[in-house]
Amino acid sequence: MSAILPPAERLWWKHPLDRVEGAWIAIAFAWCMILFFMMVFWHIYGNQNLSTETYKTRPDQFLEKTQAMVDQHTVRMDAQQTPVVAPPPGSDVYLIARLWSFWPIIEFEKDQTYRLHLTSMDYNHGFSLQPTNINIQMVPGYEHVITVTPNQSGVFSVVCNEFCGIGHHLMVGRIYVRE
Ligand code: CUA
Repeated sequence: MSAILPPAERLWWKHPLDRVEGAWIAIAFAWCMILFFMMVFWHIYGNQNLSTETYKTRPDQFLEKTQAMVDQHTVRMDAQQTPVVAPPPGSDVYLIARLWSFWPIIEFEKDQTYRLHLTSMDYNHGFSLQPTNINIQMVPGYEHVITVTPNQSGVFSVVCNEFCGIGHHLMVGRIYVRE
C-alpha cells in the first residue's frame, strides 16, 4: 500500500503501515511535541505573555472592595467627576467595567508593583491598555488578577475591545503612571 494512492481494498486500516506514512506520523508527532513544550517554555522565558490569575467573584463583593479602595485612596476628581485613585505600592487595585465605562481612574507610580484586579459588572468587556499591547477579557463573575509594574510614566487609555452594545465605542477609561 502506498501513502499516496487510494487503498486497493476497503479495509484500509487492516493494511500494515507504509514507511512513508509512518515517517510522516512520526514527524507530525515530534512537531506536536515541540509546539506543546514551546508553549510552556515561551510563557516562562519569552518575556511576552501575561500571567493572569482568575478567581470567582460576585458583582456586589467586587464592588464593595472597589468602593473601599476609592473611599481610602481618592486623590482628586477628573472633569467627569470620576474619582482618581492612587493606592499605595504593593496594594490591591480594583477596576470595574460596566456598560459603558471603567471605574475608577487609577494612578500608579512608575517602577512600583501592584496587584490589579479586573471584573465586569454586567457583560463581557475588554481591557485593552493603549498604547501598549496588553489585552485581557473582563468577564462577569470572575476576577482576573495581574501583577503589574509600570515601567514608563504617562497617560494610558483603557479601551473596551469586546463589543458590548450601543455604547461600546464610547467605553474608554484611563490609567495614569506618575514618575
Ligand atoms: Cu465594553 Cu465594549
